[in-house]
Amino acid sequence: MIQINPTYRYTVAGLPGQGKTVFARHIIKQLKTSGVDTVIYDPMAQYTDLDSYVPKYFATEYQMPEFDDIAMQIWDKRNVFFVVEEVENFLPQAGRRSGIMWRIINMGRNYGLGVLAVTRRISNMDKTMFSLSDKTFIFRLFSPNDLEYCRGFIGKSADTLLPKLKCGYYLQCTSTAVTLHEPVPWDGKGKPVN
Ligand SMILES: Nc1ncnc2c1ncn2[C@@H]1O[C@H](COP(=O)(O)OP(=O)(O)O)[C@@H](O)[C@H]1O
Ligand SMILES: [Mg+2]
Repeated sequence: MIQINPTYRYTVAGLPGQGKTVFARHIIKQLKTSGVDTVIYDPMAQYTDLDSYVPKYFATEYQMPEFDDIAMQIWDKRNVFFVVEEVENFLPQAGRRSGIMWRIINMGRNYGLGVLAVTRRISNMDKTMFSLSDKTFIFRLFSPNDLEYCRGFIGKSADTLLPKLKCGYYLQCTSTAVTLHEPVPWDGKGKPVN
């Protein structure tokens, strides 16, 4: 059982094919079982069996208005756990970010809004998301940019542990500890996208 508070923020990072989506699906099912209203922004259509929202305009110039529209609905609805795959597109380290998403990560807790942000390019994600995350779950990474980004938050275990993680294994990072964890059980679903 992974301890998740539905009004907190979490980040899941790692290279493609390392188990982020399998892990996110596990958490979503856990939350749904306990009755948490969960909205999944699902650009790669990997969560359709869990009633996800698959955007029409992802990776086009219209992706941001579409995302803002969904994020605004969540803001208005309150008490929702928002899962966003490919989050670096909406909360980038450089360039225009979603204003509504920014508000959700900074103020959402007061309105019952939690976030699970999933990214395969952590160094492209806004650092505020990382620093506001109650826990960050990091799967295998080895690019110098990504390791440097993580080192700023989790110290030297970034360099020693992250490049060596096997598929499905992850580091759980909090402000006080970095711990290694075994893969979550896999339901055999969520087609891989690389
Ligand atoms: N916890 C796990 N248990 C067993 N196999 C896993 C696990 N996590 C990942 N895998 C294997 O790795 C593949 C890619 O996982 P996925 O979650 O889609 O990666 P990512 O989202 O990081 O690209 C899965 O289809 C599965 O074959
Ligand atoms: Mg994935």
